[in-house]
Amino acid sequence: MLSDRSRPVIEATLPVVAENIEEIATRFYTHLFEEHPELLDGTFNRGNQAEKTQQMALAASVAVFASSLVKVPEQLPEHLLNRIAHKHASLGITPAQYDVVHDVLFWAIVDVLGDAVTPEVAAAWDEVYWLMAYALINQERGLYSARGVRPETVWREWEVAEKVRETEDVVTFKVRRTDDRLVKTSLPGQYVTVQVPMPDGVRQPRQYSLTKADDGEHRQFSVKRVRGDGKPDGEVSNRLCDSVEVGDRLTLSAPFGDVVLDDSRPVVFASAGIGVTPMAGMLSHLATAGSGLPITVLHADVDESSFALRQQVLEDVRFLPAASAHVWYEHPGDGQGGDGAVPVEVHAGQLNLDDVKLPDDAGYYLCGPLPFMRAVRSALIDRGVAPRDIQYEVFGPDLWQADLVTEETPGSSAA
Ligand SMILES: Cc1cc2nc3c(=O)[nH]c(=O)nc-3n(C[C@H](O)[C@H](O)[C@H](O)COP(=O)(O)OP(=O)(O)OC[C@H]3O[C@@H](n4cnc5c(N)ncnc54)[C@H](O)[C@@H]3O)c2cc1C
Ligand code: HEM
Repeated sequence: MLSDRSRPVIEATLPVVAENIEEIATRFYTHLFEEHPELLDGTFNRGNQAEKTQQMALAASVAVFASSLVKVPEQLPEHLLNRIAHKHASLGITPAQYDVVHDVLFWAIVDVLGDAVTPEVAAAWDEVYWLMAYALINQERGLYSARGVRPETVWREWEVAEKVRETEDVVTFKVRRTDDRLVKTSLPGQYVTVQVPMPDGVRQPRQYSLTKADDGEHRQFSVKRVRGDGKPDGEVSNRLCDSVEVGDRLTLSAPFGDVVLDDSRPVVFASAGIGVTPMAGMLSHLATAGSGLPITVLHADVDESSFALRQQVLEDVRFLPAASAHVWYEHPGDGQGGDGAVPVEVHAGQLNLDDVKLPDDAGYYLCGPLPFMRAVRSALIDRGVAPRDIQYEVFGPDLWQADLVTEETPGSSAA
């Protein structure tokens, strides 16, 4: 924990650091890529850099961690650290890289705050950095070891065995191993990082949730084409959808991800659009295990034709003895959602929990656009569900959890 010497220094300087942390993070990344351009090839996501979401996530994480050290020193912000460690592990981040990040981060702090960074202030923030770094390094070491990999063996080549057009904008890939080595198991809800070579010769990593239970030989994931609508089109999703074909090779990481199914209690899945992917993966695991748990699937989409993995999800619901599904379509048309045999109720409009009876003592899993998850989480909390029973997956750097940590930490206000 933070030393008695550093604690008052951090308390005194937290407001000024928090105020400048986004600028620090921006300069940090510019300098990092100038000094280490190799990190742009296969490690960092340049879409997140362009959108500034990664800069914001790094900034928020440091501010939340430091303020939590000061306010609740007996407890580390575990959820925050888990999320980061899993993402790092899916990219093969090494302990040695923490020295590189340290040096560049402290260069950026001095660059932005100037003379305010006295030796005493630098020493106190150095302590914060290494507390956070070692918490992450240790957790990442555990994650690598649990998967039986090292940072440099996280990656593996796969061959595209099937490419299925799910909807106008979503393509499902089934990839097969290319050698006899054992396929690492995944936990239900986890993702892989896919590293895709781009036309300019740079490899770009993106995460995709696994949508099928393990069979020892394949992985399956679904990719939604990101349309720019005035901004550039998403580079990796469009390349995967348009240019990667059956027989091509893809590089995937071992599976990681902290949002995983607790299959010891009733389950409620609430998703919107492409947010169905981790739910499809968890349902597939439940179906493979022949689960008798009460399972409620709630999904919102534009219309029946844009509901990716609809057939797989509804087949699993039909197969599971205590599962039911509710679907909300913005444009319901005359589709009935199921094929008669499937217990699915179709509603018009936005997902509305008032339409649904929820099981007691369930674990809740959310995935979809942030406004959707905020609305569902609030509605669940209004219905008496405990925040700890609600997990969510964000399809990008997680900018939501800083708000939640701040909201849920007693006496917290900074960051
Ligand atoms: C844990 C996790 C699981 C995920 N699971 C799935 C999944 O199952 N299925 C799925 O489809 N996706 C999933 N995603 C999202 C996926 O990883 C990608 O983020 C997504 O496919 C978009 O990548 P892209 O390369 O196409 O877009 P990018 O090129 O990264 O673009 C992203 C955004 O940035 C904007 N942008 C890019 N460059 C610029 C610029 N120069 N100026 C301004 N704006 C710019 C683009 O317009 C776009 O809006 C997941 C993400 C995470 C973190
Ligand atoms: C204490 C040090 C560090 C902190 C606080 C930190 C924090 C973070 C955070 C908050 C995220 C976003 C997680 C999310 O998806 O929600 C992230 C992702 C990432 N981190 Fe770190 N990190 C640290 C060290 C490192 C190191 C040493 C490297 C190696 C170069 C690294 C590389 C990455 C990469 C490549 C991503 C994914 C970026 C993206 O997808 O845009 N990080 N980190």
